Amino acid sequence: MRVNGIHYKTVWMEGSSVFLIEQNKLPFSFEIYEAKTCADTCNAITTMQVRGAGAIGCTAAFAMAQGFSEAPEIGFLDAVNRAKAKIEATRPTAQNLFYATNFVYGQAMAASNPREEAVKAANQVLAKDTRDSRQIGQFGASLIQDGWNVATHCNAGWLAFSDFGTALSPVYIARDQGKKLFVYADETRPRSQGGRLTAWELRHEGIPHAIIPDNATAALMAAGKIDMMFVGADRIAANGDVANKIGTLEKAICAQQFDVPFYVAAPTSTFDLSCASGTDIPIEIRHQDEVHYVSGPDADGILRRIRITAPGSDAYNPAFDVTPARFITGIITEIGILKTHEIVEKIGDLHERI
Ligand code: MRU
Repeated sequence: MRVNGIHYKTVWMEGSSVFLIEQNKLPFSFEIYEAKTCADTCNAITTMQVRGAGAIGCTAAFAMAQGFSEAPEIGFLDAVNRAKAKIEATRPTAQNLFYATNFVYGQAMAASNPREEAVKAANQVLAKDTRDSRQIGQFGASLIQDGWNVATHCNAGWLAFSDFGTALSPVYIARDQGKKLFVYADETRPRSQGGRLTAWELRHEGIPHAIIPDNATAALMAAGKIDMMFVGADRIAANGDVANKIGTLEKAICAQQFDVPFYVAAPTSTFDLSCASGTDIPIEIRHQDEVHYVSGPDADGILRRIRITAPGSDAYNPAFDVTPARFITGIITEIGILKTHEIVEKIGDLHERI
């Protein structure tokens, strides 16, 4: 997608460095961060300088390539395995991270020149992510009728992938097809990926939208103001249960109550068939300070962090929830729109290919 007239991917590799759009600085400033080592790149994932399932996957792929380049001749295998373990310990829920490290590792280890092959494989992960996101947009756009109001949660736009995104890709493609639409982006406390990132993306793309409080969705659905809802996914179990940003489950329950079609958009690399159901998906619990504090520029433009909760109280901060398959109208993937009961049959051995 374009920012100030320049086309950007969310993450890319040049030489031995990984470059990424610094998402913690958005929407207040647009900066590129250079991660010079595998350790820097791991830190960028942990601190959420880069976030979102697909973007985490692409970044992990490049971190794996850095791990191969940095490994010394003596003790090569041990060093590469340590790097892989370190990357995989950065964040636990998004399946794309594990998909990416395993793919790059497998391709590189099978080659006579593992360091070069790792870079090539990481770029393949990125290229597939972009292709899949675009294709998801094509399938998803067919569901949107001219004049509809679409709701989304968190940020599953192009910032959360390498380009296009998943939940927002249908919106971008429908706009390109000439359909008029309006997007409600909920703020997505505690980190506000909706209010900060989705709104920033939509504004840059010229899509009419409004940020709504997290707790406004039911009221808007009850008033008939939302025609459909698209969300992303961090991991999808074999039975169609979907782990996604905390709050997704509430939206899905509301959508069912008010007969609003509720679609999950995710590439097949997000499916983890080793999880029989959502209860097998590890849920990241993040630091309580994300609930207690917010940050943003003051009137003088200086970024400040302020406490917004009662001093002395503890907070509990699960980053994801699991939406049971029965609440999901369909899952939009790069191979088509699947019903949750079709997953095992349709996804099958796709994970071995790229
Ligand atoms: O914690 P984050 O921001 O990395 O959360 C992941 C997500 O971006 C959302 O859950 C999103 O809706 C899934 S698709 C990128």
